[in-house]
Amino acid sequence: MSTDILDIDQPAALLGGLTPQAFMRDYWQRKPLLIRQAIPDFAPPLTMADIKTLARREEVESRLVSHGARGWAMKRGPFTRLPPATRPNWTLLVQGVDLHDDAIAGLMRRFRFISDARLDDTMISIASDDGGVGPHYDSYDVFLLQAHGRRRWRISQQADRALVPGLPLKILQDFRPEQDFVLEPGDMLYLPPHASHDGIAIGDCMTISIGFRVPSRAALARGLLEAAADQVSAQFLEDPGLYGQPALPGPDLSGLYEDAGAPATRHPAALPEALIAATLDTLERIRLDQAVAARFLGQWLTTLPDSALFDPPDEPISLADAVPEGRLVLDRCTRLMYGGGQLFINGEVAPAAPQPGLEALADRRWLAAEAVRALPAGVRSMLDEWLEEGWAHWRA
Ligand code: SIN
Ligand code: CO
Repeated sequence: MSTDILDIDQPAALLGGLTPQAFMRDYWQRKPLLIRQAIPDFAPPLTMADIKTLARREEVESRLVSHGARGWAMKRGPFTRLPPATRPNWTLLVQGVDLHDDAIAGLMRRFRFISDARLDDTMISIASDDGGVGPHYDSYDVFLLQAHGRRRWRISQQADRALVPGLPLKILQDFRPEQDFVLEPGDMLYLPPHASHDGIAIGDCMTISIGFRVPSRAALARGLLEAAADQVSAQFLEDPGLYGQPALPGPDLSGLYEDAGAPATRHPAALPEALIAATLDTLERIRLDQAVAARFLGQWLTTLPDSALFDPPDEPISLADAVPEGRLVLDRCTRLMYGGGQLFINGEVAPAAPQPGLEALADRRWLAAEAVRALPAGVRSMLDEWLEEGWAHWRA
């Protein structure tokens, strides 16, 4: 598995000779970029048959799209039977392939010049001649890497995004292509959100989509308020380790509401104005700070999809007493992030605070024995738990 991170100041073939800095400045979220031979001599790590095998699995999200005389059709997997390769006009799309294959996870992580917070998953599609999902737009950024065979892409930056109503998939009513390219294996197309596109297979075809996620403002607001509510509950329930997670220092909410001197009321059903005011006054004590925002984001962004499965070892090694030669490597499914003075792993708040060795492990996804030895014993015990869970592995 490739664990190298691109130097953000060096021109990269992956970006057509642009530095990651220049790509982010000029293209990311702004305009499409066609990159010929982004990966020269690219040979896909998985075959078309491997993709079909993945689509048989219950926990793997897959879709089959076809079009013909009766229009567009879409079915959701798992699929035990698929149309024959000789029948034109179908495509099978499999989500989250990075969770099931080390080489695909390594390929996806070549794009880590973009934050893990934005990276979503790697989808792979296989198609027979003329197969595709029709002209549409997506709400997120995507790198479309041609893996096998050829695909014709037509793209447009048109403002009209009206969709054909009543279809099982998003199809633009009036697609007006502005550019047209045929991609060969190793070629790649970057598309920003809302760029309209239509990819049609020319013969058997495999395309790898490295997709990104974008939280809505509403999701951010709700998550922030929920994290603040959890902090309050920690006090309310007097559980400093709320639901097994270390609680953040919360606001001072001691004391009871008092209404000595309240006037007698002729309207007993009316909510007292003073109680409403006291409630709002309490809200002012709630802290919506960096630690709370990071608590929500870190837990949310490291939460694993259901199809992420770990394979705990029969005899895990222990790093608490002695660290052998080798290195610690995160499992391909593991999500490890840090921020706001906290460390997050696979949806949980880690018991150790971020520190240089752990941040390096999160950024590079591996850590040399020497650096592991330099970590405090308590932190090495935490790593032992990760090894036991199969979240990380020791490679001699
Ligand atoms: C594909 O792999 O068929 C393309 C997916 C897309 O256009 O978003
Ligand atoms: Co698309």
